[in-house]
Amino acid sequence: MTDKLIIFDTTLRDGEQSPGASMTKEEKLRIARQLEKLGVDVIEAGFAAASPGDADAIHSIAKVIERSTVCSLARASEKDVRAAGEAIKPARHGRIHTFIATSPIHMQHKLRMSEDQVVERAIQAVKWAREYSDDVEFSAEDALRSEMDFLVRIFTEVIKAGATTLNVPDTVGYSMPVLLGEHFRQLIARVPGSDKVVWSAHCHNDLGMASANSLAAVMNGARQVECTINGLGERAGNAALEEIVMAVKTRRDIFTCDTAIDTAQIVPTSKLVSSITGYPVQPNKAIVGANAFAHESGIHQDGVLKHRETYEIMRAEDVGWGANKMVMGKHSGRAAFRARLQELGIVLDGEEAVNAAFARFKDLADRKHEIFDEDLQALVSEGEIAHVSEHYRLVAMGAHSETGVLPVARVVMSIGGAEHQADAQGGGPVDATFKAIEQIVHSGTELQLYSVNNITSGTDAQGEVTVRLSKGGRVVNGLGADTDIVVASAKAYLNALNKLDAGANRAHPQL
Ligand code: KIV
Ligand code: ZN
Repeated sequence: MTDKLIIFDTTLRDGEQSPGASMTKEEKLRIARQLEKLGVDVIEAGFAAASPGDADAIHSIAKVIERSTVCSLARASEKDVRAAGEAIKPARHGRIHTFIATSPIHMQHKLRMSEDQVVERAIQAVKWAREYSDDVEFSAEDALRSEMDFLVRIFTEVIKAGATTLNVPDTVGYSMPVLLGEHFRQLIARVPGSDKVVWSAHCHNDLGMASANSLAAVMNGARQVECTINGLGERAGNAALEEIVMAVKTRRDIFTCDTAIDTAQIVPTSKLVSSITGYPVQPNKAIVGANAFAHESGIHQDGVLKHRETYEIMRAEDVGWGANKMVMGKHSGRAAFRARLQELGIVLDGEEAVNAAFARFKDLADRKHEIFDEDLQALVSEGEIAHVSEHYRLVAMGAHSETGVLPVARVVMSIGGAEHQADAQGGGPVDATFKAIEQIVHSGTELQLYSVNNITSGTDAQGEVTVRLSKGGRVVNGLGADTDIVVASAKAYLNALNKLDAGANRAHPQL
């Protein structure tokens, strides 16, 4: 008899807490639709009390998602819980996830509350949440550094108050599989009514243990795992969905549960999240890294050719590798373009948006022979970027580099509609381009990260550039894609400046 393992995806909430990974409503909607296609059971769509924009994004996701449960996080306060309750109202299946810290260090220094006060608050929060939904999750933040007796007490009380899922987070990624497994074993044995609720693990990856810890929880009775695509998340990230799902699927001999995930959607989802957040996937990342199924050494290749299972424990096609299609080229028409977007679950807002995206497609097809799904995703992102804010816009640019000569760049850009031009020299064409932009804008930002990745393969592929800028404590990732990586770099830089310009203040749930 196989139990269901509930996959709770928190890419849109904990994942979005990664530096610079904040997403627009349209981007969140695109990811939410893909998560539903992937088959996740619960989508944590955000933290409604963070800002009106966050609440609106959750509300919009709740309206369109049909099969997955849509969840909002809420601190254990009436204001937060009611904001979450309102945000999930349109959902076919809605959940409120409320939490409070339970470790001595968090209770003393962050909350400045006694154990009794924390228990009282938790009970109250669950009761408020039950006014909106029968599906209420309670998390004991920093559970793995909390006293076992106190955890048993608070979990017992929240079950009585109506919580239906109990989450045990390793908030700071401190635990080890054997300890975390024992934690779950004891909790499930000691909490009265534990068989009436779903036990859940939420592990961070500070010591590289997030997936191993989550799986130890599953082996000791957890039936929900909270995870993110590509392991995105606070600091070193959360447990990676693809690792949990494929471990459970591949090791059926040791796990007595299974998920409802359509594993062929794993790689497309990974690529979408990476391109929207600007967090590239390392090549040697399990399951979704470009090398995950590449056999470099001659001995391995020989083995795989003779009998695949000599060195392969999973099949690349089962997780969605190789599924990307050459969808169109320069002769493809508008109807084919529109149909492919539909198949990808991309909904554009009105005829004007379709026309603009089609114009960008034609422009790209002139420069690039084969257009893949990833190219389409990137050009839709570009449209969304332009839609959000284009205070700073690239009008034209040129860059020159030659051995023995200092590279130079010329940038023409518009600021709020007025055109400006600057020339600059730099260590390379990208450096010269950024310097030219800075001569115009004097942004006062600090460049924290610059990275280029090819969206598809081949030298005519589009380069996707991420530029991370920080200013006054705010961090944003700017994205740009183009077959010319210097142009992609300029677009990414301006996108980051636009994001800094447009960003509203948002509360962080755990501070
Ligand atoms: O890591 C954590 O403790 C969290 C909680 C809000 C569940 O993200
Ligand atoms: Zn977390």
